[in-house]
Amino acid sequence: MLRRIGVFDSGIGGLTVLRQLRAAFPELDMIYLGDVARVPYGGRSVETITRYACDDVRFLLRFGVDAIVVACGTVSSNALDVLRETFDLPIYGVIESASRLAAQLTRTGAVGVIGTQATIRSGAYQRYIAAADPQVHITARACPLLVPLVENGVEPMDPVAEMIVDRYMSPFDSENIDVMIMGCTHYPVYRPALEKRLPGVAMIDVGEALAQALRGKFGQGEGQGTTAYYATERSAAFDQVVRIMDPGVDPAAIRVENPFR
Ligand code: DGL
Repeated sequence: MLRRIGVFDSGIGGLTVLRQLRAAFPELDMIYLGDVARVPYGGRSVETITRYACDDVRFLLRFGVDAIVVACGTVSSNALDVLRETFDLPIYGVIESASRLAAQLTRTGAVGVIGTQATIRSGAYQRYIAAADPQVHITARACPLLVPLVENGVEPMDPVAEMIVDRYMSPFDSENIDVMIMGCTHYPVYRPALEKRLPGVAMIDVGEALAQALRGKFGQGEGQGTTAYYATERSAAFDQVVRIMDPGVDPAAIRVENPFR
């Protein structure tokens, strides 16, 4: 039975996952870690991503968590197997549930995937979608500027964000997709701009897909419903980013601790 879970991301983006987990599991205690000091992970090598992810898991283990949720598409797609081999507790990533949902939802048989460079390069979403339905045609595109945009506090409908979204979405215009996986946990912030640019395309929030999948897997948990927030740094735009990510989180309640130096 679950009581306390650890949730981590390279930055503040994982709050989009935490919010979905909180809605699905109001009874659990949750510890969130955002490795703001080292964000973004998405342009780094598999080795570096794996090393950072191991640090993040060790940080959360101090709190006696029963399971870990990797609230980061980049880590889920590049380091999940190593994390599972290294640590002796259940570890869940965001790729599999979102991929299964995309394969289920598509009517045109064409699915789009967007993520960081490391996520798209790994081919993880592509593999899991193909495993769910080998007939699905997949178009995947890295959108490396979106994470720095969010982490610098650029608002969801800022014209700069809309312009960059427009550029990144152009390869999908000719692909007849009806489902798009927002394969990085920062991207739900730009969902309004994505929906405006791709009208009629169903957007999959990977945090929501995972929370629903886990809710189906676990019965009632036993925690007190508390949430503790940690970040490895208070960046310049920190308060603004937290507000954009989840207006329900008080930035002052996020403790800053960096044991990774
Ligand atoms: N939220 C992370 C993800 O889902 C952002 C990756 C990054 O740090 O570049 O991929």
